[in-house]
Amino acid sequence: MSTPLLAPVMVRVCPVDELPPGRRLLIEADRLQIVITNVDGRLYAFRNVCPHQGAPLMCGPITGTMVASVPHQYEYGCDNEIVRCPLHGWEFHMATGKSVAQRDTVSIKTYPVETNEEHILIQLPRQPESFAVHTAR
Ligand code: FES
Repeated sequence: MSTPLLAPVMVRVCPVDELPPGRRLLIEADRLQIVITNVDGRLYAFRNVCPHQGAPLMCGPITGTMVASVPHQYEYGCDNEIVRCPLHGWEFHMATGKSVAQRDTVSIKTYPVETNEEHILIQLPRQPESFAVHTAR
């Protein structure tokens, strides 16, 4: 007997108006927790677990970071594109999941997220057996 192929699925999260700019949702798909946030109309979805020591990224500020400009100089950039871990401050690009400081070795899992005319949809690797929107802020 062969194992069925896993195919990504788009799962309906909520009506678009339940996640206005500046808000976040925490969803649970089976046992996987995922944050979905609306930043000025741009949607991001990423796992709610920091790879350092497991802190919930749901509680981390969305910010920018210091980026290299010329040798020995940094300037503020990537405004509202970074989530910072609330525990020790590791930073991640929400679009790619890559760590700001260790981009080739550390990352968080991200998920495609989009809207149709009425709902926010997230792409998951397979159809979850359970799916819930737990909190919003
Ligand atoms: S747990 Fe996230 S930086 Fe330490």
